[in-house]
Amino acid sequence: MKSLRVLSIASEIFPLIKVGELADVTGALPISLKAEGVEVRTIIPGYPGVINSLGQVDGVIHLPNFFGAEARLLRATSFELSLFVLDAPHLFARPGNPYVRADGMDWPDNALRFAALARIAADIGLGFVPSFVPDVVHAHDWHGALALAYMHYSDRQRPATVMTVHNLSYQGVFPQEMLAAIDLPPESFAMHGVEYYGRIGFLKAGLYFADRITTVSPTYAREILSDEGGMGLAGLLRERSCDLSGILNGIDISVWDPSTDPHIPGCFYPDVSSGFETEVLHNRAINKAALQRRLGLQVAPDAFMLGIIGHLSSKKGVDLLLENLPTIMREGMQLVVLGNGGSRSLQYRYRTAAQSNPGQVSVMIGHDEGLAHLIQAGADALVVPSRFEPCGLTQLCALRYGTVPIVSRVGGLEDTVVDVDDLATTGGGQTGFKFAPVNAENLGDTIQRACTTFHDVAAWRRIQRNGMSTDVSWRNPARRYADLYGELIEVPQEKVA
Ligand code: GLC
Repeated sequence: MKSLRVLSIASEIFPLIKVGELADVTGALPISLKAEGVEVRTIIPGYPGVINSLGQVDGVIHLPNFFGAEARLLRATSFELSLFVLDAPHLFARPGNPYVRADGMDWPDNALRFAALARIAADIGLGFVPSFVPDVVHAHDWHGALALAYMHYSDRQRPATVMTVHNLSYQGVFPQEMLAAIDLPPESFAMHGVEYYGRIGFLKAGLYFADRITTVSPTYAREILSDEGGMGLAGLLRERSCDLSGILNGIDISVWDPSTDPHIPGCFYPDVSSGFETEVLHNRAINKAALQRRLGLQVAPDAFMLGIIGHLSSKKGVDLLLENLPTIMREGMQLVVLGNGGSRSLQYRYRTAAQSNPGQVSVMIGHDEGLAHLIQAGADALVVPSRFEPCGLTQLCALRYGTVPIVSRVGGLEDTVVDVDDLATTGGGQTGFKFAPVNAENLGDTIQRACTTFHDVAAWRRIQRNGMSTDVSWRNPARRYADLYGELIEVPQEKVA
């Protein structure tokens, strides 16, 4: 039987180019979908890092004048991923971050850059590459969303379409004057088209034209229907709510595998049925001590150690933890922070906290994959106090590594952690601590609650065991996406009015 073919459109993909968790998803999902009989090929921009690390290139199509200059469409395989790469040096051959310049400002031609990505994706969707004609085109976030509009305004028969929202706060909004430059017809600038509050909305267009919309957790799928959570798009999303669903992310359990993890001194099998005390606890203690030594903290096995991994931004709610720092310090806890980016003022406040509390607080700013693994394998609890969090992946890694998550009750955090005081509704049992509404006082109380439980050795072990036996892999989510694609190609496509 011919497998179902999907063209995925992504602006980043792990391990070739990663800015955020989006890359983890676009990199892992295609591999897991293979087991479901779905063949995914992903179209990505040819940033320098991508071009330099391409594996086998087995096809080149020349595009003599593509969005202002010569470009090429490469067909390649890299790290088990089947790819199309848009090699358009005038748009993508730039150093640094894919989205912003060194000074943190957006690249001024982002509309053109990602319209180009979407345009070539739409062309592939409409049969431009005869050897790969997809049944479904699946766009991730605003960067690929316009493909769905291009296909709508074409006369050719189009494949089914899915639009996945990873984060509604990035919408790709550009001035109306760009319409001709990005090759859209004048009639597209309408409410029933790409127009969005007088400008062109890339994500809006994707949400309007997609056959199905997904987001990365069931709770976030509900939150974005509210005026606050919808960030300007709630009206449209409410109209489309019958076609909207939430599918939780998974993590790549071959990368996040405590039994083989090259970044940690004490490896352990996450199989909790046997050897929990000797295997898991013993090796977690080795990792905790290694972490304390590496970061210059007091080597204190009984100090309750909190970890934070992620952007130091107010979206992530990490300012709320700083407000609780005096109490956390007074109680003799330790805090380990790995902040990859975020606001300058929060980075500064965290650095100052580390300087003022030597031996108890460690703050490292930047990307350090090895340290992220060691924190997951050695800290006692991972704090994720996000103000909004479509899914979040770090709490899933924490569950698998026996680090107990302390999270706000928003988005995917609500869906992936079961509070110790909640009645467990799914098989996994209670796995962590949650708080709402998201404010400093509630976070502080919840950290206290966790710290008290930490000193109740039997109770803490039970929570760790429950977390470690939760299935956080891509197996179930991949099945859900495969089912969704399957449903879509069974029904003949109608054009949106
Ligand atoms: C975005 C969201 C995050 C989610 C990720 C992958 O980064 O903010 O919550 O886990 O996308 O879907």
